[in-house]
Amino acid sequence: RAATDYQAEDATISQGAVATNHTGYTGTGFVDYTNVTGSYVEFTVSATAAGTSSLALRYANGTSVNRPMDISVGGTVVASGVSFPGTADWDTWATKTVNVPLKAGSNKIRATATTDSGGPNLDRVGV
Ligand code: GCU
Ligand code: CA
Repeated sequence: RAATDYQAEDATISQGAVATNHTGYTGTGFVDYTNVTGSYVEFTVSATAAGTSSLALRYANGTSVNRPMDISVGGTVVASGVSFPGTADWDTWATKTVNVPLKAGSNKIRATATTDSGGPNLDRVGV
């Protein structure tokens, strides 16, 4: 089936802010993670059936330093230290894809920064 997009600026944000100060985002902005360990964005994703789904995170990282994040579903880390390497500049977006186990119904998917650089800028996820 076609992916459904969930905009980061519409998600639950802890230690981050909606921003528009770079080009190329979709929707009405992107999330600028505060540059601390533990900053996160949490999406509520609906699945019609239990199973493994591909999660595509669209991000920008205008530094040359990786900004890893843990991906959790329902409070359980399902992908640890996923790399979000540099994308040349803050206007250049890339997509990182990970597989996540979802249950039927509502799922809380969280992307949490694991270093004091915080996360990359996050535009959206597609599931
Ligand atoms: C710059 C950039 C932000 C980014 C930040 C960072 O301030 O404009 O979009 O989030 O760097 O290093 O995290
Ligand atoms: Ca930031």
